[in-house]
Amino acid sequence: MNVIIKENYQELSTYTANLIAKFIRSKPGCVLGLATGSTPIGTYKELVRMHKEEGLDFSQVKTFNLDEYLGVGIDLNKPYHLDQSYARFMYEELFKHINIKKENIYFLNGLTNDPEAHCRWYEEQIKKAGGIDLQLLGIGRDGHWAFNEPGSSLASRTRVQALTKQTLDDNYESFYKKAGIDRDEMPHFALTMGIGTILEAKNIVMIANGIKKAEVVAASLEGPVTNQITASAIQLHSGDITVVLDKEAASKLKNVGYYRHVENLKLKYNLL
Ligand code: PGA
Repeated sequence: MNVIIKENYQELSTYTANLIAKFIRSKPGCVLGLATGSTPIGTYKELVRMHKEEGLDFSQVKTFNLDEYLGVGIDLNKPYHLDQSYARFMYEELFKHINIKKENIYFLNGLTNDPEAHCRWYEEQIKKAGGIDLQLLGIGRDGHWAFNEPGSSLASRTRVQALTKQTLDDNYESFYKKAGIDRDEMPHFALTMGIGTILEAKNIVMIANGIKKAEVVAASLEGPVTNQITASAIQLHSGDITVVLDKEAASKLKNVGYYRHVENLKLKYNLL
């Protein structure tokens, strides 16, 4: 596991975007797993810049998003701040600015009338695409990956999940409040890739910033593997893992000295 600690959010975003860009350049037809939330916004901004200014090419890239609110669908007739779907988030923050093909973008459809069958279909599409090459992940304050709330099986697959109060509070503050949507009217369920699904990605990149994430970041990377912090499943992944943090999110880690030492060694030997 590579743990990279950056000075601030901007540096974290630039580093993460560079890592993804490098991956796309080495495998132009790669399959990316993508995340929503406030953390990846800077990374997407930087990827858009690279597309516009450096010709980063998404024409063969396929993407699968981690999750979507149940009962919510994209509506391009609404202004962005009134459309809370994760599909809209991705469209506004990344997809509409780059040359990705529409047919290469996969979402869980929050408006499905058969969630179980739809989740099975999603898993099949991931398999058909050859699996996810690189999965980008944030981490919730309750330790979730995607919407895998505490108590989720670490072998879980794509399914419907009820959201915790903490997640509802955080997402209300970040996204629903500005739309004037009542806290009680937020969707309380979501469709989400499972932890078992996520662990099958060949490479994992997890990002976190801010003091609010410090405790849960330390618990997930250095604490016990537990279904109470589903991101701790990162310790079970067998592929390449990179965790990119800002100083605040890294502030409760015990082994910072070692992580920095490894980063310096890898830089010296050109391994990063
Ligand atoms: P955030 O959410 O990026 O808005 O903090 C992270 C997550 O819930 O995975």
